[in-house]
Amino acid sequence: MEDLSLHILDIVQNSIAAMAKEIRIAVKEDELNDKLIVIVEDNGKGMDEETVKKVVDPFYTTRATRKVGLGVPLLSAAAEACGGSLRINSKFGKGTILEVWFPLSHIDRPPLGNMADTIISLIVCNPDVDFIYEHSTPRGKFDFDTRLIRKEVPHVSLGEPDILDWIRSYLSEGLNEISGGA
Ligand SMILES: Nc1ncnc2c1ncn2[C@@H]1O[C@H](COP(=O)(O)OP(=O)(O)OP(=O)(O)O)[C@@H](O)[C@H]1O
Ligand SMILES: [Mg+2]
Repeated sequence: MEDLSLHILDIVQNSIAAMAKEIRIAVKEDELNDKLIVIVEDNGKGMDEETVKKVVDPFYTTRATRKVGLGVPLLSAAAEACGGSLRINSKFGKGTILEVWFPLSHIDRPPLGNMADTIISLIVCNPDVDFIYEHSTPRGKFDFDTRLIRKEVPHVSLGEPDILDWIRSYLSEGLNEISGGA
């Protein structure tokens, strides 16, 4: 069983490969509806409808042979294995929204894992991409936005060690405060 944060890292790689410059990651721990929802939204090159169908279902095919990726189908399978599901909404030339949900209390739901580390790795590897991270739990809401940091320290790369240290503690303190146990 793989942490959801690793799946998220994988899904965000698709956005980066699609040349996205702004990527929003939202995690909602909704106890009331017993749902753990993850949304990854990007402004990359997007996909047409036919491509979306192929991506979600690796066995759906219009040709006899094609190379299939597994990032999306693996996350989709993990969600479906415990009664959740994954869907993609994409517009060619505009961007993509991927939304996946798991039953929060399901015994086989993968743990969320370390989202602070995930966001840090994304920034380290892609210092020019903007990341917006929103995480809500019954204990509160945490927001993080690299665009706001850039405004505070213009002309400084987010990959600078001092900036990364600051981001690291901001993320871990903020996420700790709202920690809901997912
Ligand atoms: N956010 C996105 N924007 C544009 N195209 C996307 C996006 N996400 C997925 N795709 C398309 O769907 C394909 C399949 O994605 P998937 O993650 O399942 O496999 P992959 O990235 O090709 O390979 P891997 O197994 O290494 O993840 C991608 O190759 C890409 O063409
Ligand atoms: Mg992929």
